[in-house]
Amino acid sequence: MDQQIEYFNDGAEFHEIDPLFINADSLMEFAIYERQPCKDSRYRFRCLLVESSSIPKDRLMKLLKSWGKVYIHTDQVKKYHQYLKDNLAYILKHDEIDMVKKTDTLISLSRDVVKESFECNFSFPWSVRQTLENAQRLISQAVEFISDIKSLNEIAKLIGHDYDTHTHSIKVGWLMATFIHANQELFNFDKALELRPFLIQAAVAGLLHDIGKIKIPPNILNKNGKLDNLEYIIIQSHTAYSASLLFDTEISKHAMQAILYHHENEDGSGYPTGLNREHIPLIAKICHIADVFDALTSRRPYKEPKTPFEALKIMTGENPYLDTLKKFEQEAAENIKTPVTAIVRDDYDIKLRRLREREMVEEEALKRVEARVKLRDQGMSHCFDKSLLRRFIITINKSESFELSGLL
Ligand SMILES: [Fe+2]
Repeated sequence: MDQQIEYFNDGAEFHEIDPLFINADSLMEFAIYERQPCKDSRYRFRCLLVESSSIPKDRLMKLLKSWGKVYIHTDQVKKYHQYLKDNLAYILKHDEIDMVKKTDTLISLSRDVVKESFECNFSFPWSVRQTLENAQRLISQAVEFISDIKSLNEIAKLIGHDYDTHTHSIKVGWLMATFIHANQELFNFDKALELRPFLIQAAVAGLLHDIGKIKIPPNILNKNGKLDNLEYIIIQSHTAYSASLLFDTEISKHAMQAILYHHENEDGSGYPTGLNREHIPLIAKICHIADVFDALTSRRPYKEPKTPFEALKIMTGENPYLDTLKKFEQEAAENIKTPVTAIVRDDYDIKLRRLREREMVEEEALKRVEARVKLRDQGMSHCFDKSLLRRFIITINKSESFELSGLL
């Protein structure tokens, strides 16, 4: 739509933007306006710039610095968002843009990418490839920012918020990148050549690690309460779905490993394959730690968020009921029926028997689910590689924003 030189309205059609986000080296295809008060609570929006190709670069840079608040027309918000995506690296590296604005922009663009990937039509190979490319393009622009240890302060600000899959995914990728960057000695990188692409792969894996959840029925995925045994088993299938959805893409081996094995436990009680210790790929162990840390510290409809200290206390804690917990996990994973069928087999009335059987199965399932959650909060150290978890605590403890004294 062609833009007018000026508008008179209440401002609802305009969207404020920061002029510092405009990169003088990158062509913008949207008009910029200034706002002046007018009578009757209306404003005059006067066009300052139609598009950046209409002005020399030096002049544009001076203007951008001199402008305070500027606006774009809502008709051009899509073009502006695309511009932000194309210039994310420029924005994140800009010294004069404050960290809050940088983080908000990164989170908002990442949420778009994850949301798009969750809406992708996986029947079309080109659409799946596009999903992966979008994630890679975004992360390759943000990788220096998210792997910098200083960015932990920005992660800390996001802790304790409501859980949503899209924001959770970027936080997992972000924590993975920061951790790997701070613990490079764990990997045998030829630094110049291998570190950056590996960080990108790790963060992309974090972004897409739960993509298989699109195959899980929404009433199970969004259930406002605890899951019963069958629902728990269905949820567990998301790792295999994630791998199958991305199977025919160019996704790297390491990213695929993180996605497929991010629920494997150190003692072999995890899923989908029950791998243990050195059989679990290192990148999947890191993804697992970041995933659980973020899940525990997020608010859910049925639980308050744990503080980072409480979450890590649970993650490092020994579980006194480990045998029972393992039995539950094992039964859920193998879909073993509860033994109530045997107990009621001798009832002579078939209707009564069925009713009783169902009741007992449900009771049993509920008991087990409640116990599983309660038991897990007693300690999860069996899920993680101890030295890796310790490194994770040391890494995030480098940020003053986390209060972890007493854990190390
Ligand atoms: Fe997951």
